[in-house]
Amino acid sequence: MAKVIPVVNQKGGVGKTTTAVNLSACLALRGYKVLVIDLDPQGNCSSSFGVDKDTLGAHAYHLLLGQAKLPDVIYQTEIDSLHIVPTNMNLAGAEVELVTEMGREGRLVEALHGQVDDYDLVFVDCPPSLGLVTLNALTAADGVIVPLQCEYFSLEGVSQLLRTLELVQSRINPKVKLEGVVLTMFDRRNKLSFQVQSEVQNYFGELLFETPIPRNVRLSESPSHGKPIALYDRRSTGAVAYEALADEAITRLELSLESR
Ligand SMILES: Nc1ncnc2c1ncn2[C@@H]1O[C@H](COP(=O)(O)OP(=O)(O)OP(=O)(O)O)[C@@H](O)[C@H]1O
Ligand SMILES: [Mg+2]
Repeated sequence: MAKVIPVVNQKGGVGKTTTAVNLSACLALRGYKVLVIDLDPQGNCSSSFGVDKDTLGAHAYHLLLGQAKLPDVIYQTEIDSLHIVPTNMNLAGAEVELVTEMGREGRLVEALHGQVDDYDLVFVDCPPSLGLVTLNALTAADGVIVPLQCEYFSLEGVSQLLRTLELVQSRINPKVKLEGVVLTMFDRRNKLSFQVQSEVQNYFGELLFETPIPRNVRLSESPSHGKPIALYDRRSTGAVAYEALADEAITRLELSLESR
């Protein structure tokens, strides 16, 4: 059974997309079957895999609104065992249109039901908000990964995010849990990065992934080439860090290639 793992933080620009893209690529390159669902109307995740957002047929919007079935919105990426459900700006309408729909927070659950058994993992790249689209991701989730940028206000908003997660867990989806927190854009030359790391470590304890993702220009370049870092520059510090994060994720998510 596929584990559904949204990458969530209502703060913008903290590394959600970069983490969803590169973690899924690392795991797929190791042989896991991975589906990535882009639920951010910005479509950065789609572009990062080289999908042309402007010429899409059916995509994540149609899936959430029940206008298309999962197989109709799946696209192949450059990596064999990595598929994507892309999106574009039209998804912004879903946030509004879903409000009046029955079972509005369960649309993704419904869309995935019985359709993702062939995958080991389904990552969901969430938009920077805790609106209905993110709520759909949390409702479908087994575990959540939260990226935190190494900056002064990184923990601001985290309590609201954790409250939302608890609400979803107590009322809608008892199985969802915080799988781990990952520090992004870590700069070893900057004392602040270490301060934030120790503050986050105190707050989250073992939930913090040991691997911080360094600030690395190759990571910010790779989306413009439509490639994950593992294919763009696998020797870069960013690529090495996401490989180490993938090792940790395999342990935490109890993934095994043998059990397939
Ligand atoms: N470790 C890193 N080193 C350098 N640049 C990074 C790193 N991680 C992310 N970036 C860059 O920072 C910007 C924000 O990252 P990203 O898009 O992953 O964040 P996000 O949380 O998905 O943003 P949004 O909330 O807008 O969806 C992007 O331009 C990305 O390329
Ligand atoms: Mg993003």
